[in-house]
Amino acid sequence: MSNVKDLKLSASGRLNIEWAEKEMSALLEVRKRFAKEQPLKGLRIGMALHITKETAVLVETLKAGGADVWLASCNPLSTQDDVAAALADTGIHTFGWKGQNKEEYYQNLNAVIASRPHITIDDGCDLVSEIHLKHKELIPSIIGGTEETTTGVIRLRAMEHDKALKYPVIAVNDNKTKHLVDNYYGTGQSAIDGIIRATNILLAGKTFIVVGYGSCGKGVALRAKGLGAEVIVTETHPFSALQAKLDGYRVMPMAEAVKEGDIYCTVTGDKHVLNMTHFAAMKDGAILANAGHFDIEIDLAGLTKASSAKRRIRPFLDEFTLNGKRLYVCAEGRLVNLAAAEGHPSAVMSLSFCGQALAAEYLAKNKLSPAVHTLPVAVDDDIARIALKAMGVRIDTLTAEQKKYLDSWEEGT
Ligand code: ADE
Repeated sequence: MSNVKDLKLSASGRLNIEWAEKEMSALLEVRKRFAKEQPLKGLRIGMALHITKETAVLVETLKAGGADVWLASCNPLSTQDDVAAALADTGIHTFGWKGQNKEEYYQNLNAVIASRPHITIDDGCDLVSEIHLKHKELIPSIIGGTEETTTGVIRLRAMEHDKALKYPVIAVNDNKTKHLVDNYYGTGQSAIDGIIRATNILLAGKTFIVVGYGSCGKGVALRAKGLGAEVIVTETHPFSALQAKLDGYRVMPMAEAVKEGDIYCTVTGDKHVLNMTHFAAMKDGAILANAGHFDIEIDLAGLTKASSAKRRIRPFLDEFTLNGKRLYVCAEGRLVNLAAAEGHPSAVMSLSFCGQALAAEYLAKNKLSPAVHTLPVAVDDDIARIALKAMGVRIDTLTAEQKKYLDSWEEGT
């Protein structure tokens, strides 16, 4: 059972999946072992992830491990329709297409929930929250879940705090190998890629405002600077602001940054960080993009209501006229890297999805309490080891003397 845009796109999707596999050797190593050991045999996995060529490589890895996989998209604009078709064509129950409305989005999520999953794999926590709010009867048969992204982990911790979380969830996002490679290098490259594909503007010489200096914001700032933009960071957290300043960026409140910004990229995970007060003070021609999980960072509803005109300039770029001034919004304020581009490069997702596959295996082999968990450090280190091996990189090992020294306290000056 599947619901995708057009099954005839399947051949193109298969070529894209094969192209992704070339950069995902670490995940293919896990697939090889899974095919032998069948750790997920007999388990139904319900997933809500971005339906991309990289996700397809994960899905086929879980299937190789014995799982029956059901997949819905976790964002209305991020599905690669040819990939969805290729997955549906090989019997993966796939539900999603690019450009779903809210109702279709939840219908597709519920098609996955109807499979009565034993394990949930989520990106943003919509799947887990929908199960907890509307399908509580399924919870006793759920072994556990995994969560891919910072926003999802924040929601899960809020559920845990409210004692509302009823099954264990592993925060794959918190793996070192995920946080560094995906959030920093991945978002750094793919968000800039999305802004460029949506606008094709030159970044050199522009003033680029990075809103939020977490791991993702750091990556975006680094790459914008690398392309010649002058980067200004806005923050609310003192430590992050200090780090941005010491990394060489100008740091100031948004009320001041709006006087200078040519391009804005929000990466905070919070609501309305660009709002009506900011729009009113922005320069004519400013470009606004969001690289946070949900489309709430830019107050688009407010901007739409206050604008005298709106027109689509080109795919993923809308012009709003506000008091005679023009503002340009990329990808309807949704994740610019996945809506206007193809998300993080395959090599990045290889590591993130090693985390997902190993977390699913960990859930299958260990009984955990209903709380937010992280994978043991040894599993995270294993992911780094597999990735290094796949890249052909060798490293040193500690000698017995060095190990002993690190474990002792007596030896000083
Ligand atoms: N999140 C960010 N980039 C992604 C990709 N390429 N595939 C799936 N999820 C993603």
